[in-house]
Amino acid sequence: RIAGHLRPQVQGDVCLRRSHCRAKGGAPGFHVAILGAAGGIGQPLAMLMKMNPLVSVLHLYDVVNTPGVTADISHMDSGAVVQGFLGQQQLEDALIGMDLVIIPAGVPRKPGMTRDDLFNINAGIVKTLCEAIAKCCPKAIVNLISNPVNSTVPIAAEVFKRAGTYDPKKLLGVTMLDVVRANTFVAEVLGVDPRDVDVPVVGGHAGITILPLLSQVKPPFSFTPKEIEYLSDRIQNGGTEVVEAKAGAGSATLSMAYAAVKFADACLHALRGDAGIIQCAYVASQVTELPFFASKVRLGRGGVEEILPLGPLNDSEREGLEKAKKELSASIEKGISFIRK
Ligand code: NAD
Ligand code: LMR
Repeated sequence: RIAGHLRPQVQGDVCLRRSHCRAKGGAPGFHVAILGAAGGIGQPLAMLMKMNPLVSVLHLYDVVNTPGVTADISHMDSGAVVQGFLGQQQLEDALIGMDLVIIPAGVPRKPGMTRDDLFNINAGIVKTLCEAIAKCCPKAIVNLISNPVNSTVPIAAEVFKRAGTYDPKKLLGVTMLDVVRANTFVAEVLGVDPRDVDVPVVGGHAGITILPLLSQVKPPFSFTPKEIEYLSDRIQNGGTEVVEAKAGAGSATLSMAYAAVKFADACLHALRGDAGIIQCAYVASQVTELPFFASKVRLGRGGVEEILPLGPLNDSEREGLEKAKKELSASIEKGISFIRK
């Protein structure tokens, strides 16, 4: 275990005491682990979670470089106590007592690749991490970022089922970046502040499975067919836009860390008992005939407390939904059979 301090013994005592304290205002301070914390997403995500007043303990786990990242982040004068964990032998220690586990571990795309091309490497990484979660913090909320999300969430569910710990309300695939992008691009078209825009994005997190419901945008707006074509294409291919711009140096990391923190913060507010927390996420669902689907969900103390209906879709959205379901179904099956085979 690496404390972000030169005197591990003292740091250990300090951590022990402070991890039992409560965040300002009497609210509980939550214990959060980031798996893949030294990566392109992991580092800014760790920094932003260290700034979150709802977090009292922040565990940073990776197979490389956590000593440096932990030392660096632990110098920030915000409330959370940071501890680093390096390598598989420290994975279980990283997970014990966690309320929320965020997983951005795994390889990112390079130009020309699909998210599904990451399956062979990332499926095994997610499996290993989820086996440890099932053992060490089976009641934690899991925010899964590693791609291909359409398959890694079913993988995680199968691992938890096998371990006898599966709670579908607590496993959430993070599709927040699609919403963040949709809000940004729609705001540009409308000429308004993106913070005033809300676009539901449903389906999954890859290409045509990313289905922005532009007919339900807030503030209400009637887009031209040309605007719909431009926006749908830009939202569905936002990830590829970044992969190509980075030209081999990875995929979205900073906007993803922002989106992950927005989503994790919503989960923590819900865990605290705040009412009316609604976000889009890829979860076990009965909204369609598929076992997993991204849509608006209401979060509460137990995780996903309600899956909201899709609402009225127009003809082109209904057509998009059928296409999305076909691809999603194959990705879900691929994830499930990776564990069951
Ligand atoms: P990165 O390569 O910069 O970082 C990944 C980190 O994972 C590295 O530090 C690596 O050491 C670590 N890692 C590898 N194997 C591990 C293991 N077994 N246990 C713990 N950590 C391990 O990649 P990145 O840019 O941070 O992207 C990470 C993942 O997130 C990719 O799969 C990427 O496609 C995905 N992603 C998802 C979204 C989304 O919207 N859900 C958005 C962007 C990226
Ligand atoms: C994204 O949407 O940015 C991520 O899924 C990363 C990628 O590979 O596009």
